[in-house]
Amino acid sequence: MPIEKEPSMTADEASGRPEDRVYIFDTTLRDGEQSPGIHLSTHDKVEIGHQLARLGVDIVEAGFPITSPGDFEGVRALSEEVSGITVAALARANEKDVTRAGAAVEPAERPRIHTFIATSDIHLAHKLRMDRAQVLAAAVDAVRLARSIVEDVEFSCEDATRSDREFVAEVVGAAIEAGATTINIPDTVGYTMPTEFQSFLLELYERVPALSDVTLSVHCHNDLGLAVANSLAGVHVGARQVECCVNGIGERAGNASLEEIAMILRTRAEDLNGLWSGIETTEITRASRLISRLTGYPVQPNKAIVGRNAFAHEAGIHQHGVLRNPLTYEIMDATSVGLAQSSIVLGKHSGRHALQNALSELGYELERDELDAVFVRFKEVADKKGRLSAADLEALLGEEMRAEGVDGMRLEQLSFSGGSQETPTARVVVIDDDARLEAEAAGDGPVDALMKAIDAALGTTGTLLEYAVSAITSGKDALGEARVVCDVNGRTVAGQSVSTDVLEASAVAYLRAVDASRTIAEGEAEAVAGGV
Ligand code: KIV
Ligand code: ZN
Repeated sequence: MPIEKEPSMTADEASGRPEDRVYIFDTTLRDGEQSPGIHLSTHDKVEIGHQLARLGVDIVEAGFPITSPGDFEGVRALSEEVSGITVAALARANEKDVTRAGAAVEPAERPRIHTFIATSDIHLAHKLRMDRAQVLAAAVDAVRLARSIVEDVEFSCEDATRSDREFVAEVVGAAIEAGATTINIPDTVGYTMPTEFQSFLLELYERVPALSDVTLSVHCHNDLGLAVANSLAGVHVGARQVECCVNGIGERAGNASLEEIAMILRTRAEDLNGLWSGIETTEITRASRLISRLTGYPVQPNKAIVGRNAFAHEAGIHQHGVLRNPLTYEIMDATSVGLAQSSIVLGKHSGRHALQNALSELGYELERDELDAVFVRFKEVADKKGRLSAADLEALLGEEMRAEGVDGMRLEQLSFSGGSQETPTARVVVIDDDARLEAEAAGDGPVDALMKAIDAALGTTGTLLEYAVSAITSGKDALGEARVVCDVNGRTVAGQSVSTDVLEASAVAYLRAVDASRTIAEGEAEAVAGGV
């Protein structure tokens, strides 16, 4: 229903009216995973799913099951293992996609099928090669079929903001009649502007009275940097679901950033007529770091809310003011996004119990075998490094969880020879399923040499597109993190790893990128064999 502007409310009055709740639909695992180079394993997806549930996300779009058996498995595993959320799966508006999506979310506590079809003339002519009547019929059939499988059905008009408004209204009206419970209006190419988007949505409400009986959702891309502004504009005129991604990742310039929307709703509550979300904002930092680590996508330092500088004050005049009264330069408290300074420090003499307590203080409750594995890794690192901070422990935990998730491929040994007068040469031993593969290669530098050695061992061809190393904490003994984006056998893939030795981290990051390229290739082959 269109919302008329009412006088502002106080924060207390604002909390909790059901009709003012903005449902957060997280699509990090679907639209986010469509960012170039990102490949998440089933294990990664479940890990992220648990964190999104802790974050208080309402709906998690876990994948696009028809696209590959791996995607299907990821959605299904998340549906089985993560509770307290609605799990959505994406499907084009056809029988095969919808049936497959329904099967993937079947075990979920609250399953949703999200089906879509493009409505803009440019997509109809050049992508779908369908006319409007065919698109309308496909939308209705897909929604009907989805409703025969689940109660909760979302329908999206892809490229809605570049479509003829009358046609969008016709398709939306028909989709609601066919049983859609949420109507999503995507700004697929990030083209619209806030006032224009509002006028589009208000016109849609006028043309389709039944829209007031279902949830209106907005899905904005960031090509012009307006994704969050457009989403908020949509909420102001009645949308009650916002689709977004943690760290604002997603196709091209990304999707609306979840953390920005959540913190706008919280920080400006008094000026937003009572709008609220169920996001537990103190889980934002942990979610951001986990997703950055598992996707291999770094967060830009000046990114709002989750960038490393978002709460840093460099200029002396600012520091002086903040020390006297934080409100001089801070509109949010760092602890409200989970950036509390932790005093946790463990050393090489710390035992299993101390590790368990520290992890539990950080919010991680591990099963006995998981704790055993992390403890072994902790001891190895503590022996080399001496002391581990909370940030080190989180990085280590992430590393261990990833190692557990990767099937078959791991680095057993890495050694180097070289120096200022010698050509760097790397020797690797890689375990690939049951095979133990050894190779040696020389390169322009140590990273080039280790990549060539891994390629020689595995028979791959990789080119480094981006490479970055950074320290997890400050100090000479910091854990090092390596991130790579490479082209492996013609596919862009990313990898990340953490170690006390940055060259070892680089080798494992590259190996993960190779593993991702192989999984993608297998998925593509299976999809082709399955006629997708
Ligand atoms: O951007 C888009 O249009 C989408 C749809 C599939 C919802 O991601
Ligand atoms: Zn999208």
